[in-house]
Amino acid sequence: MNPSPERQSAHRPLRAVDIIIKKRDGQILSTEEINYFIKGYTTGEIPDYQASALLMAILLQGMTDQESTDLTMAMAYSGEVLDLSPIIGNAVDKHSTGGVGDKTTLVVEPLVAACGLKVAKMSGRGLGFSGGTLDKLESIPGYRVNLTQKEFLAQVARIGIVLSGQSADLAPADGKLYALRDVTGTVPSIPLIASSIMSKKIAAGAQTIVLDVKTGNGAFMQTMEDARKLAELMVSIGRLSGRKVVALLSDMNQPLGCAVGNALETAEAIQTLKGAGPRDFREHCLEAASYLLLSGGKVTTLEAARQMAEAALENGTAYEKFRLLVQAQGGDLRVVDDPSLLPQAACIRTVNALQAGWIAGIHARTIGETVILLGGGRAKKTDSIDYAVGVVVHIKVGDRIEAGQPLVTIHARSEVDIQLAEQQILSAISWSDRPTEALPLFYGVVQ
Ligand code: URA
Repeated sequence: MNPSPERQSAHRPLRAVDIIIKKRDGQILSTEEINYFIKGYTTGEIPDYQASALLMAILLQGMTDQESTDLTMAMAYSGEVLDLSPIIGNAVDKHSTGGVGDKTTLVVEPLVAACGLKVAKMSGRGLGFSGGTLDKLESIPGYRVNLTQKEFLAQVARIGIVLSGQSADLAPADGKLYALRDVTGTVPSIPLIASSIMSKKIAAGAQTIVLDVKTGNGAFMQTMEDARKLAELMVSIGRLSGRKVVALLSDMNQPLGCAVGNALETAEAIQTLKGAGPRDFREHCLEAASYLLLSGGKVTTLEAARQMAEAALENGTAYEKFRLLVQAQGGDLRVVDDPSLLPQAACIRTVNALQAGWIAGIHARTIGETVILLGGGRAKKTDSIDYAVGVVVHIKVGDRIEAGQPLVTIHARSEVDIQLAEQQILSAISWSDRPTEALPLFYGVVQ
């Protein structure tokens, strides 16, 4: 395409429209232009319609790594940036790009805190088919996620772990832009996702970030190619912004662990902290925890990190750290000690296999959507959720199943809901009459 006639003159003061045109025409934005736009949008001087146009231009034209880094830093510094260094030194944070049954934070954070790494984490809520840590924690009666900044800092200094919601003062530009992307079809852009995630981590004070980038039908990044691109871009943003970033590429073609649904996932995380829990989920947590311990300088090799993490699960210190966390944030400890006291659904039914064969697929996204249908997720940010409902998946891809063996247990509010969910879940399971391969947990590491 020919350069646009409306192209910006070298001497004209910056204007939002010129920045939009420049990106529309596939040119590279300068640091100054990106800073100008993000500042103007945060203060309200640049309206939503111009921000929407720029977002669409970025989605269609892409951004260089330097532009993505500039966008990240402009969003991170659009509000307060926490300085955790007096309390933590090198603050290590973990972030998952989201998936179905992903309750990893509930296990990994107390686990690494039990190994002496201070954890100050701000998590999010579920939206769409993917769950959120805050909703899972709130299934424990009394647990407070809305700590003030003072409480947040005091708690990590006192007990070495805090897990709360993101304060509105951190990266406000991302908060505004994310809401706009949601309604303008501009969520699935790798530079926009990478800068959105990284800006929040940097604003929350992270110096070292371990990312769990999920790929598969239950993840934002459906293909390995896109997941790797996202991971590489976030690692590059880390390098250009002076943060250390390690990205694990992990599978999301079937739910992680067995439980999907807030209270059910919290119960499964507690079981895992007590040394039990599903094998894939325990293994996933140990691997993520090992990278956190290594990146946080607790050990010098991955093998030593792994040993340290396994010991904390086995000797009960990780579980004790979780109890301490729940107690500090006002949660009911009786529920942690006896997860059967978590919210329970009125109707619970196990669906058994009608046939024998090998499991070829369990469509994670469909399982996540079924939990929303049952009332366990939100269609809009303002929707309230039912903590008790969900699905426990008893099978994994690659399993040999005999007729009559349990496939899933549905936890619902009514018989009608059970029937609806049953149809949907059965459609998510695919069978083979020949042996099928189990899925890997991880596909690689980008660092
Ligand atoms: N998570 C985020 O924080 N931002 C995105 O854009 C996508 C996932």
